[in-house]
Amino acid sequence: MGLKLDRSRIIGRGSSRRCFQHPFEKSRCVKVEKRDYFLKITREEIKYYKLFQKRGISWDMLARFHGIVKTDLGEGAVFDMPHDYDGEISRTLDYYLDAQSIPAGELGRALRAFKDYMMQERIVVRELKADNLVYQRNSSSLGKIVLIDGLGNNEFFPFANYSRLFAWRMLQKKWLKFKGSILKDYPGNALTKDLISLL
Ligand SMILES: Nc1ncnc2c1ncn2[C@@H]1O[C@H](COP(=O)(O)OP(=O)(O)OP(=O)(O)O)[C@@H](O)[C@H]1O
Ligand SMILES: [Mg+2]
Repeated sequence: MGLKLDRSRIIGRGSSRRCFQHPFEKSRCVKVEKRDYFLKITREEIKYYKLFQKRGISWDMLARFHGIVKTDLGEGAVFDMPHDYDGEISRTLDYYLDAQSIPAGELGRALRAFKDYMMQERIVVRELKADNLVYQRNSSSLGKIVLIDGLGNNEFFPFANYSRLFAWRMLQKKWLKFKGSILKDYPGNALTKDLISLL
């Protein structure tokens, strides 16, 4: 019943979800949860999408949500899936940190612009990590970071949802953790060493 997801068109796997190419819309993906707890993660995330929609934020660096659909793998959630200028599906920061095919200066610039965007729009996140960000190549030398997963607030007192000051504090904290996680997860990587000094 519903959308038939092509198992060979899997874009990526996370700890709780699998992400497939949307069968009819090239620029979208469908996420289904691995276990049975139907869209638990996704429902939490959707609350934040609604909050941001109400606030009228810019979606420049956040993949948009397009609703729930029935699929042959259970209920799925449809999101934007960024593509590069040459038509390829954009790859994650995690991929580029391993491939080391983009100069540290350019990745650093894109990540700083992404941080400014999050501060400006008060995007609250549970956690920032390299496999939840894609680097969308807009030309052979320039690109931008897009957040594809991780929206939410896992703090005991979710003040950051209401207060700009608390949101900024929270983002600073998550940013420091993000930098730490890059150093820890990619030890001995020449690119990440240069990159960290730029963030
Ligand atoms: N909108 C997107 N555009 C491109 N690739 C995507 C997109 N959404 C997900 N992916 C790919 O699919 C993977 C898994 O998706 P996602 O991060 O949403 O799953 P998750 O289980 O919630 O992850 P986590 O382990 O971080 O909780 C991502 O790491 C990424 O490689
Ligand atoms: Mg993820």
